[in-house]
Amino acid sequence: MENNKGLKIILIILIILTITVFVAITILYLMDKKEEAAPNTSYSAKASAVIQKYNLTNTINNKEYSQTLETILEANLFDPQYLDAYYEINYQEDQNFPYTISKLLTKNYNSTEINYIYDNYSNCLNILLDMNYINITNLNKLSNFDPSKLERYLQYHKTNNQYDIATIVTYVNIGLDLEGYSNYVSYTTEDTSSYKILVNKYHKLPNDYEPSDLVPLSYNSNLLLREVAAEAFEQLTSAATLDQVYFYPFSAYRSYTTQSVLYTRYKERDGETKADTYSARPGFSEHQLGLAVDVRSPNLADNITPETYEWLLNNSYKYGFIVRYPKGKQYITQYMEEPWHIRYLGIDLATKVHASNLTYDEYYDLYLETR
Ligand code: DAL
Ligand code: ZN
Repeated sequence: MENNKGLKIILIILIILTITVFVAITILYLMDKKEEAAPNTSYSAKASAVIQKYNLTNTINNKEYSQTLETILEANLFDPQYLDAYYEINYQEDQNFPYTISKLLTKNYNSTEINYIYDNYSNCLNILLDMNYINITNLNKLSNFDPSKLERYLQYHKTNNQYDIATIVTYVNIGLDLEGYSNYVSYTTEDTSSYKILVNKYHKLPNDYEPSDLVPLSYNSNLLLREVAAEAFEQLTSAATLDQVYFYPFSAYRSYTTQSVLYTRYKERDGETKADTYSARPGFSEHQLGLAVDVRSPNLADNITPETYEWLLNNSYKYGFIVRYPKGKQYITQYMEEPWHIRYLGIDLATKVHASNLTYDEYYDLYLETR
């Protein structure tokens, strides 16, 4: 009798325990189901439906609400591989935002770059969407990068993708994306005091600029250069003579008026397009600086022999000159090759330009332009 009672109590306890465990398991199961079924209520119904479709309810509920994510979900542009990026990209009030960031992500821009683009270059989004990935952060590290020209860099890159981005920046800074003479810097008289001054189709001298220290060259007193350049030229010709290389000056300083007469004559003879390949328009010639001189070989009227050209390329810098329009660089200098035209820069700068193997247009932009 006593034993029977004891057994009954144990049986009742066991039944109660079993029921408790069963109820507990059921409750836990239902709770779990509930979480899976009801996504974070911060997201809209449309967004939640997509979350559920991708079985991401738990993952997303464990994170903070993201407006960027919601916008992407609502626009049906969600791609699970970019889930982390959606959380990192700052939301923008822009109706194209989900479309834009989706395209940028597929072009391999990361979230940091996308935020950077929105913060700094939102005006360039359309161009960026229209071209392959470009490393904007590297671009910004280039010493001659000018943020205000980003749109021009990108446009130029689109049609000139044979160049690396550093080259693009330099060429656009020079102005090569624009027609020569269409957009130029007009120098003041004070600007003309430096021997370093850059004159090309994008930099114009004042019409009335005339150097105050012009002196005649010993070979022909009708030919003038600024005093320091004239002295350097005499040294250059002496050094050449020692190497048995002979050349003579045939054009040096030219006033604005003289250049005007020359250019007009060429234009009437060959047409403007052709004339522009070999003659500067008035105000745009280095000859007006009194720092440029054209030299010829003994039996030639206005040119030099290939040997003399080689000699000038390799030696003129020692006396402060560079060959300003070298062969193969027409697309940068915007003039056909002129082996005979040398420009005085001073020994120091001419040596650096020579060592750089760059045209003066490029060198100036990279190392002398003040920004
Ligand atoms: N021939 C050069 C470009 C000048 O006219 O200055
Ligand atoms: Zn010349």
